[in-house]
Amino acid sequence: MNAPGTIAVLTSGGDAPGMNACIRAVTRSALAHGLSVLGSLHGFEGLMDDRFTTLGKNDVSNILQRGGTILHAARSDRVLSPEGRAAAAANRARRGVGGLVAIGGEGTFHGADALAREHGVAVVGVPGTIDNDIWGTDFTIGYDTAVNTALEALDRIRDTAAAHERLFIVEVMGRRAGYIALEAGIGSGAEAILLPETRTDIHSIAETIRRRKAEGRLSSIMVVAEGDDAGNALGIAAELKSREGLDCHVTVLGHVQRGGSPTTSDRVLATKLGWAAVEALLEGSAPCMVGETGGRIVRHPLPCAWERRKELDPILLKLASLLV
Ligand code: F6P
Repeated sequence: MNAPGTIAVLTSGGDAPGMNACIRAVTRSALAHGLSVLGSLHGFEGLMDDRFTTLGKNDVSNILQRGGTILHAARSDRVLSPEGRAAAAANRARRGVGGLVAIGGEGTFHGADALAREHGVAVVGVPGTIDNDIWGTDFTIGYDTAVNTALEALDRIRDTAAAHERLFIVEVMGRRAGYIALEAGIGSGAEAILLPETRTDIHSIAETIRRRKAEGRLSSIMVVAEGDDAGNALGIAAELKSREGLDCHVTVLGHVQRGGSPTTSDRVLATKLGWAAVEALLEGSAPCMVGETGGRIVRHPLPCAWERRKELDPILLKLASLLV
């Protein structure tokens, strides 16, 4: 990319706490290099419909600590079509945008990769999703906040579960990835953790609960990721009732996990990766994604995000059943 020029930044897919901190870091890093910055509104939709906002230093003041995204987010099917991408490329050329930073999850990276391959757009993907399911980075922006939000809710449920000696099943987000369920489950001492990555056996869960009861531990909490192979929390509760005669209270945490002020870790990660994305553009590394592994900033080809699978920690998987 030829500096100085203009870069655009967008947030796409599901929002994640820390996206604003990343927008700020991208904007101020780019401005420090003498670049101009445009924010594409509603993710790729703004790029395709020519809806941008100019981002100056003051436009990103006081957003570091805010959840959501000032640029709005959208899941865009249009960018996955050749027509949508052609419109995006035309607007990019007319606006003189020399580089694009796309903050989001796997779907965002698919759109970014297609734009790069078909239209030569210099694009850097920044992993931002509460699911933490992007290979090539230890953590995605938003995960730490979301898992702590889930943990806090589980601690509260633990109080009432213990008081009434009840059985609870708590559903957390994660259609294909069990990171939130696994870590919030371990952190809250859940008696069962049900993940999309592992097979769920309703009968053996019921046996665990009965054994605990016999040993004098009368309340239990099960944490289930929404995409578990045995179904969602309501479905599993119905099965536990009909097949095993167990009564469960169900709590679905839902989008409460997506909001809120980002944790320190998310703010710092978002700030580092926003800066790293601009550096990658300036050094001509695009198209690529940036991430952080073992404390070091890394760059990988965008398709790594879906061609390689980030594994759950095997030690945590083992501990999930050992300690109950
Ligand atoms: O962004 C990731 C995520 O929060 C998943 O955990 C969840 O399955 C999905 O998005 C929900 O998406 P939406 O808000 O579009 O319903």
